[in-house]
Amino acid sequence: MSDKDKDSNSSSESEKFTVDNIPGVGPAMAAKLRRAGFYTFESLAITSVNELSEYAEIGERTASRIIELARRQLDLQFQTADEVLVTRSNILKISTGSESFDTLLGGGVEARSITELFGEFRSGKTQVCLQLALTTALSESKGGVGASVLYIDTEGTFRPERIIQMGQRYGLSEDEQNEILKKIIVGRAHNTDHQIALVAEAGQLIPSKNIKLLIVDSLTSHFRSEYVGRGTLVDRQQKLNRHIHQLLRLSEIYDMAIVVTNQVAAKIDNLVGGSIAPIGGHIVAHSCTTRVYLRKSKADRRIARIIDSPHLPENETVFLVTKGGIEDIKGEYLEES
Ligand code: GTP
Ligand code: MG
Repeated sequence: MSDKDKDSNSSSESEKFTVDNIPGVGPAMAAKLRRAGFYTFESLAITSVNELSEYAEIGERTASRIIELARRQLDLQFQTADEVLVTRSNILKISTGSESFDTLLGGGVEARSITELFGEFRSGKTQVCLQLALTTALSESKGGVGASVLYIDTEGTFRPERIIQMGQRYGLSEDEQNEILKKIIVGRAHNTDHQIALVAEAGQLIPSKNIKLLIVDSLTSHFRSEYVGRGTLVDRQQKLNRHIHQLLRLSEIYDMAIVVTNQVAAKIDNLVGGSIAPIGGHIVAHSCTTRVYLRKSKADRRIARIIDSPHLPENETVFLVTKGGIEDIKGEYLEES
């Protein structure tokens, strides 16, 4: 069977599992669920009653019933640890363009989880995102994934020209370049509501476009500028929490990687020491699976440090941001950082 046949089969297979086809759920309710960002059985099956009731604006009893119906259809079950191991050994990993950075991440940016890149301005967060978008769209024969990317740009810093420039390193023809740009779908988010709506919309795009990477650059900038002052902190954190869980759900349902960026702010209680902390507090800290702290070093060098991961040691490495994108430091510099 050709890949194309496989794709069309799997998409008609996944169509069977959309909210329009849940026995007992009528068209008006299905439309309501879709508007709230729930498109598939899986998305409902892994949602809590509270969340569904709140997002879809339906009563808790109805939400509970819908979740039960979706779960029944999917036959959700437990797995033994050896089965989990097999699932994890097949997990998609996306290259950062630098071998040492990939090694630090255990082989690359992992699917089914959220990777957070945090650091000060010019630490290279956007550059790493652009490179990851390129390696995801790049064909497998050139070391890429050959899949599509959704890029949510909140700061207006997405640059297709920079992706073309980075692509030169892989010796791409003009046709190949165009193919890659067509695989990167960009949404410009102008505020937090817009950012959240784009992610809800993504639930509809992802199954039909073979999207394996979703980038939000930056996750927190709009939240930071819209919610100013102490009195607004609780609202901001609640909304951010829902947004991150919406992303985590997509990563699990569609077996895709999520990469978000985050700035840092001076810690108020620690200003004298010049200490900094990522924005978003405990909500972001606890919800992102792998946190990577990026900082600037001499010239083109950047340092990446794993801060929090369920399976990686706290460690760091040095890489370069060059004309060609994210690259390794050659030989003689390896010992320095
Ligand atoms: P903020 O979004 O402002 O928080 O910063 P960021 O962490 O996203 O920084 P970004 O990834 O935009 O990094 C910008 C830096 O990347 C620039 O200051 C340059 O040092 C470097 N850079 C960007 N393009 C090139 C390039 O073509 N060649 C080289 N050598 N460096 C580049
Ligand atoms: Mg940036």
